[in-house]
Amino acid sequence: MRKPIIAGNWKMNKTPSEAKELIEALKPLVADNNEVTAVVCPTAASLLIAKRYLEGSNIHLGAQNMHWEESGAFTGEVSPVMLKEIGVEYVILGHSERRQYFAETDETVNKKVLSAIAHDLIPIMCVGETLEEREAGVTDTLVAGQVKAGLKDVAAADIAKLVIAYEPVWAIGTGKTATDEEANRVIGIIRKTVEEIAGTEAAEAVRIQYGGSMKPANVKGLMAQPEIDGGLIGGAALKAEDFSALINYQK
Ligand code: PGA
Repeated sequence: MRKPIIAGNWKMNKTPSEAKELIEALKPLVADNNEVTAVVCPTAASLLIAKRYLEGSNIHLGAQNMHWEESGAFTGEVSPVMLKEIGVEYVILGHSERRQYFAETDETVNKKVLSAIAHDLIPIMCVGETLEEREAGVTDTLVAGQVKAGLKDVAAADIAKLVIAYEPVWAIGTGKTATDEEANRVIGIIRKTVEEIAGTEAAEAVRIQYGGSMKPANVKGLMAQPEIDGGLIGGAALKAEDFSALINYQK
């Protein structure tokens, strides 16, 4: 059985003091939830303080991005070694906003995935189609291609342990959600793709999230789908009340 994983992508929101506030509010609301893996992904500037206030809780820490190199002349970047020393466990890689605004490609995503694994960080690798791609009817091949390229040269045993987030770009921050069935269908294609490249065992183990306007009102329907193992949440991760309702969707 795959354990559901609900991760909050805070994007460029919350100062360090606001991060502390949100974590302090969230902790008691999810303290008795052992059924779901809960993750918060603050900005790099708030990782250290987040780690301090998450101490002793059942909430895990994730970052939103990293460089693949350990150190060097890469102004503005954060390395896997730095994340590891802070106590980060997960790292979002290839988010559509990184692909769209910061020129991330399948190739750089793949370098980051390999580096994250080499540094014992769990990638949350994001894939998903834009509205134009959906309307052109290329969703399935595009998403499968992103999965294959992002996981190039990754060992099957490592693929089994990572997280993939299917985030249709047109559903992110728009209030539009893929229907439960359509999200489930595309995630099924992602799992089939993993099976092709890494075998049945990895495909059955890999956790695949849906992301894009997931909120308390639609979480139950999405999570009832057999292929959907969790959510990557933006807007609804910024309030303790909403995010805890997502983590506690089974209650
Ligand atoms: P959203 O963002 O929940 O605000 O749509 C999801 C994401 O971009 O990860």
